[in-house]
Amino acid sequence: MAYETIIIQIEEGIATITLNRPKVLNALNDQVFNELAEAAATLEADPSVRVVIITGGEKVFAAGADIGQMASATAMDMAIGEKAAHRAHRTIENMSKPVIAAIAGYALGGGCELALVADVRIAADNAQLGLPEITLGILPGGGGTQRLPRLIGPSKAKELIFSGDFINAEEALRIGLVNKIVPVDQLFVETQKMAKVFSSRGAVALHLAKSSVNEGLRMDLEAGLQYEHKCFSLLFATQDQKEGMKAFLEKRPAKFQGR
Ligand code: CAA
Repeated sequence: MAYETIIIQIEEGIATITLNRPKVLNALNDQVFNELAEAAATLEADPSVRVVIITGGEKVFAAGADIGQMASATAMDMAIGEKAAHRAHRTIENMSKPVIAAIAGYALGGGCELALVADVRIAADNAQLGLPEITLGILPGGGGTQRLPRLIGPSKAKELIFSGDFINAEEALRIGLVNKIVPVDQLFVETQKMAKVFSSRGAVALHLAKSSVNEGLRMDLEAGLQYEHKCFSLLFATQDQKEGMKAFLEKRPAKFQGR
């Protein structure tokens, strides 16, 4: 598929998806979400890709869902059928590979919600995040009322959702919405550094570790612990487990094959 609203680059096993609607601050319409879903499915199926980065470039991550597209929608338009945004989120979130959001500038509304779908968020020092939907007479409908409280706790999430206020990178770091802050001109270098660390690990262990966290968050603690134990045990069937432990005992770096 040829993409019009996103750009994909793959280098040394690290795929970067760049949102590309600069005239509207990367506002997310159905075409963007459909292309994101398609790209995520394609990158998931590509064994040479080990880590995925989602970014909007150095100026803006995304200023939200496309208000122009939503303005005249009816309740039925919104209620019927699976939404392109939800399909894209689900496809990205269910990837077996680590997904890092590299955020510069605004990550608002649907933009912030897209970043919440990633496993890890790195913010540039010019980042501004928020869920301003309440100021439009709606609520964050792209997972914001669900993923944000699970990440930062319900109380702080409600403050952001009820006020619609934007927060800067430092506040986002303080409340656990982003993992780290870097100077904006270092955003891609630092994100690549993290991606390289992840990509040097065993792909099956990464997949099951991610699954253990994500699935575990949907379960009670006892069920989550049992699920973790199954994932943990399964890894003892991999060559990577043999190699990882052998390498440790031989005092050398492990060479993982993703098997
Ligand atoms: N949708 C559509 N167009 C958008 C947009 C959006 N979310 N955000 C910005 N744009 C467009 C503007 O309309 C403008 O287009 P024109 O040049 O044709 O007028 C262009 O991008 C540049 O924007 P501004 O002139 O507004 O830039 P600014 O620097 O003055 O302000 C901003 C930047 C504070 C981010 C402001 O654009 C803004 O408030 N944007 C909307 C933020 C928002 O409310 N996001 C939530 C959307 S709803 C949502 O996401 C629903 C959901 O949960 C699923």
